[in-house]
Amino acid sequence: MSARIGVIGSNMVDLVTTIDRMPRIGETLEAPHFEMGAGGKGANQAAAAAKLGADVLMVSRVGDDLFGGNTIANFHALGIDSTHVRAVPGVSSGVAPIFVDARGDNSILIVKGANDHLLPADIDQAAADLLGCDLILLQLEIPLDSVYHAIDWARANGKRVLLNPAPATTALSLDRIAGVDFFMPNQTELSILTGLPADDRHQAEIAARLLLQRGMGTIIVTLGAEGALLVTRDETRHILPVRVQVRDTSGAGDAFIGAFAAHYVVHHDLHAALDQAVRYAAHSVTRAGTQKAFATGAEFNEFNLEQRRS
Ligand code: RIB
Ligand code: NA
Repeated sequence: MSARIGVIGSNMVDLVTTIDRMPRIGETLEAPHFEMGAGGKGANQAAAAAKLGADVLMVSRVGDDLFGGNTIANFHALGIDSTHVRAVPGVSSGVAPIFVDARGDNSILIVKGANDHLLPADIDQAAADLLGCDLILLQLEIPLDSVYHAIDWARANGKRVLLNPAPATTALSLDRIAGVDFFMPNQTELSILTGLPADDRHQAEIAARLLLQRGMGTIIVTLGAEGALLVTRDETRHILPVRVQVRDTSGAGDAFIGAFAAHYVVHHDLHAALDQAVRYAAHSVTRAGTQKAFATGAEFNEFNLEQRRS
């Protein structure tokens, strides 16, 4: 079987503003810095995997605007197959105004734009090429019906599915997604989807076990600065964090997932893939931005060597 990853998901243009604090209503406030970058959870995960050398096929929709062409050019530059990335006439590209504060914490607004027009029929149109993929990555920045359709298609065609339920919505039907192989929420998403608290590892495990009962395969909860938690029927395992100087955490979850997928699709080794994911995400928070923060394979090797030395 081929070691190709198919990402059926979003792309966004990140409009990243560094702030000292959020303005109050009616207030005009000067912010120190602004930068634009390629983002969107689907594209970010594709980018992380591609930077680590994975073969990636992207199924996505861009807007009929300046940003659309840039996004497609970015996929090309990353070596991502964008045969199924198309523009939707009369619709804006997805954009994400992001605010990063002095501690590196972020607040994100998303305007889905063209991502909301990635329909089940578009997945069918890409099906012949998706058949060449071994692992399908999904997030929730496209219509839920398209997510369900992709899961049904993958199941019917024997493809593994990794679902990152982000951003979380209670509209997501746990019944429709039961059976996904990998379910990867962060603590907030886990709590929203289960209605249970997930503030610490113990709570997160209880909530994750509920999802196992609902039919999810393997649950991996990202814990931010605390690493990650693997919960399966047979084991619970805390993947320890890597301590780094935090600059910007935006996109860290996507870095984690892309790095996990890139490793898993080749080696099918869950623990080794998680180890790579935690390290790769840790590196990503040391740099500003989302995709542009993600290390290439060479940079990541260097980071791993430095970590071992210190
Ligand atoms: O996960 C981070 C991403 O969320 C950003 O790149 C932004 O585009 C939003 O989709
Ligand atoms: Na970052």
